[in-house]
Amino acid sequence: MRENWVSRAGFILAAAGSAIGLGNIWRFPYVVGTNGGAAFVVIYLIIILVIGFPLMVSEISLGKMTQKNPVGAFKALAPDTPWWLVGAMGVLSGFVILSFYSVVAGWGLAYVLKTLQGVFTVSNTEEIFVGHITQGLQPVLWHFIFMVLTTIIITLGVVKGIGRSVKYLMPALFVLLLMLVVRALTLEGALEGVRFYLQPDFSEITFGSLLSATGQAFFSLSLGAGAMLTYGSYLKKGDDVVSSAVWVIFLDVGIALLAGLAIFPAVFALGFDPSVGAGLAFVTLPAVFAAMPLGNLFAFTFFLLLSIAALTSAISMLEIVVSWMVDEKGITRFKATIGIAILIFILGIPASLSIGAVDISIFGISFFDFLDLFQERFLLPIGALLTSIFVGYVLKGSKLRLEVNQDSKKLKLGAWFDVLIKYVVPTAIGGILIAGWISLFSS
Ligand code: PFF
Repeated sequence: MRENWVSRAGFILAAAGSAIGLGNIWRFPYVVGTNGGAAFVVIYLIIILVIGFPLMVSEISLGKMTQKNPVGAFKALAPDTPWWLVGAMGVLSGFVILSFYSVVAGWGLAYVLKTLQGVFTVSNTEEIFVGHITQGLQPVLWHFIFMVLTTIIITLGVVKGIGRSVKYLMPALFVLLLMLVVRALTLEGALEGVRFYLQPDFSEITFGSLLSATGQAFFSLSLGAGAMLTYGSYLKKGDDVVSSAVWVIFLDVGIALLAGLAIFPAVFALGFDPSVGAGLAFVTLPAVFAAMPLGNLFAFTFFLLLSIAALTSAISMLEIVVSWMVDEKGITRFKATIGIAILIFILGIPASLSIGAVDISIFGISFFDFLDLFQERFLLPIGALLTSIFVGYVLKGSKLRLEVNQDSKKLKLGAWFDVLIKYVVPTAIGGILIAGWISLFSS
């Protein structure tokens, strides 16, 4: 028997748990920081509404309609066609993304311990960060610990593992984040950071920002990898998809915005640079915390929050692959989870080492950066593009919409949904994708 979420709230928490992760706490603030601030946030919100929402509804209901993993879902809806390959690409995405995601999550766990030891000062954070990630064995060990936590939850199953853990972890995450926001906003000089974050200056926007905003949207909403499809497959007939999708998007965007509100005011108030890039959370923030009273406590809170967010996302990536093995290959959940987790852990080792300990590079970039670029420029956007084409053209226009509306209590999808999924979403992704490839290969 296939498991079902215990309630609609259970599904929303799990799906929001998948969406809210390193993408919100670590990536969103630094991408905003390097793309000029508020104007980028506006573009991001538009992309979420126009591309993210229709895709979120589509993925969840493809899962719900078929009650299957990504490969099985496409097979059921389009038998004897190659469309199942879109599902297979999703399974590959879950596998690839988790391998390096777990490495970064491992840094987060290591930092929880470091903040307890109180090692940070205003001037030593870069040294500590570089020392940690290039050290070789240590980050691999933390990657291992993080994979063990993820594995334990997934072996327990959808209700006892995923459902029960998000029920406690998501509220905890929210409370911790609110604490940080209040702290940041009450610092002297915080307002300048709020301005940078919320007062748009559109002259800062370039094509590169558009590309980053699209990549960030897919990654943050867990779209294009079949995660939402997989979670949707544990919904019951009759469950409302549209309002759940709205909730998940609202929570994901809300938490990303709050993360920025916890970070930028503090960065500005204490005189740091918001545009340092990927080191913002691991280099700048510990220094920011070290410069404020009770800084260790807030630093501890931040990295605990980051680790929790990462864990509830990681379980969804592992679940994509596990659900495929359980459904399609008839392997028990326990065996599938352990086997896949070991393979993902192994793929993560060269990713972790390539950052500095050992020279492992592909096409002139580190193996870690290669995996990240591969998901951002190929796996997620192509997965999302093909999903929209499938829903718009293969499922015959409004079939998915009619199906979704049957169970939709308040919010119904109108004909505008067909326009979005058939024309707007594929054209927008296709255009951005191709332009992105041109800039990638010409650089
Ligand atoms: N949405 C997650 C985050 O923002 O950290 C990352 C993610 C999860 C991407 C699941 C893809 C996925 F299938």
